Amino acid sequence: MQKINQKIIMGIETSCDDTAISIITSNKEILANIVINQNSNLNKYGGIVPEVAARDHLTNIDFAVKEALKKSKLRIDQIDVITATGGPGLIGGVIVGTVFAKSLAMSLNIPYVAVNHLEGHALTARLTNNVEYPYLLLLVSGGHTQIIAVLEYGKYIRLSTTLDDAAGETFDKAAKILGIGFPGGPMIEKTAINGNPKRFKLPKPMYKSKNPNFSFSGLKTSFSQTVLKHTLTKDLIEDFSASLQKTISDCLVDRTKVALDKFKSMITPNFPIQLVVAGGVASNKYIRSQLENLSKEKNAFFIAPPIEFCTDNGAMIAWAGYEKYIIEGQTDFDFKPRPRWPLDPDANIKEPIFKNIGKKGVKA
Ligand code: KG4
Ligand code: ZN
Repeated sequence: MQKINQKIIMGIETSCDDTAISIITSNKEILANIVINQNSNLNKYGGIVPEVAARDHLTNIDFAVKEALKKSKLRIDQIDVITATGGPGLIGGVIVGTVFAKSLAMSLNIPYVAVNHLEGHALTARLTNNVEYPYLLLLVSGGHTQIIAVLEYGKYIRLSTTLDDAAGETFDKAAKILGIGFPGGPMIEKTAINGNPKRFKLPKPMYKSKNPNFSFSGLKTSFSQTVLKHTLTKDLIEDFSASLQKTISDCLVDRTKVALDKFKSMITPNFPIQLVVAGGVASNKYIRSQLENLSKEKNAFFIAPPIEFCTDNGAMIAWAGYEKYIIEGQTDFDFKPRPRWPLDPDANIKEPIFKNIGKKGVKA
């Protein structure tokens, strides 16, 4: 039975390779969480082909919605708000999700909310772990590696970003070089279990630097050059995986340590310090354990959402969309999907270091 004043929210996520539909309540119950991934397709092509991904979203989206309704035991006319990722991401997929969401909301005569995918990741722990504002967020996904002070809804201050590649992208490229499949992060984590993390000494760009930015392109190049000097065996693949995972983890922990000190000076003294991790790479158990150790060292609370809500999902979009709806109301139906949509649009103005990233400025 629907409780009085409780809203039922559908979240639609199609910005990358997963077609994800969730149904949640405003009381933070997750009634359905359907994720249809394109991994078999991706293995065939060795990565994501945007056009193929967009067509697959189109094929899968109807089915995913029906499955979500079946799982939640709800009818479509019981949904109160439709939310969908409006960017940033692969534009073909974002268009599929946006057009679908708008059509559904129009036909049901209910509000539509366009959601920033990064905001979805950023607010996930508020849905899954009941976290209160403010907190420091380490957002590590396939396309982004950023540290953000999340002060309240809509007030996000970016403390750092990657100057080149993202951590997830580095895992994916490394797995491709090792020939162990896609997506790379979970495959590297699996093969690293039996590997020796000290076998290969890889570079750690930006390590110990005072500003908490990241860089992974040098690591990617060095990893590829080192691997190419070897004839790969099972043991070597395991040692390479363990060494890479440890190197990426060391970089994330070191940069987060600098950011935690910055963050402490931004919030009310004696307020509990919370470190939240989000995004696909946050599902890596080794990285989670190292961040937990850092939090203990820094007297901070460490919060990591359940693994299935670290990688892309519709629940995070539904929750961020609901918070947005409460504060800003519904989105106009003339909203245009955005390939770029920074969480903190002022970042490149405030911090000159962000100025020269990408031909069109900061991607996200
Ligand atoms: O957040 P996400 O699902 O999609 C984006 O918004 O990018 O993140 C996907 C990324 C991929 O690069 C994938 O290799 C990485 O997250 N990833 C992992 C793990 N699971 C997913 N990286 C390391 N360890 C994992 N267990
Ligand atoms: Zn994501």
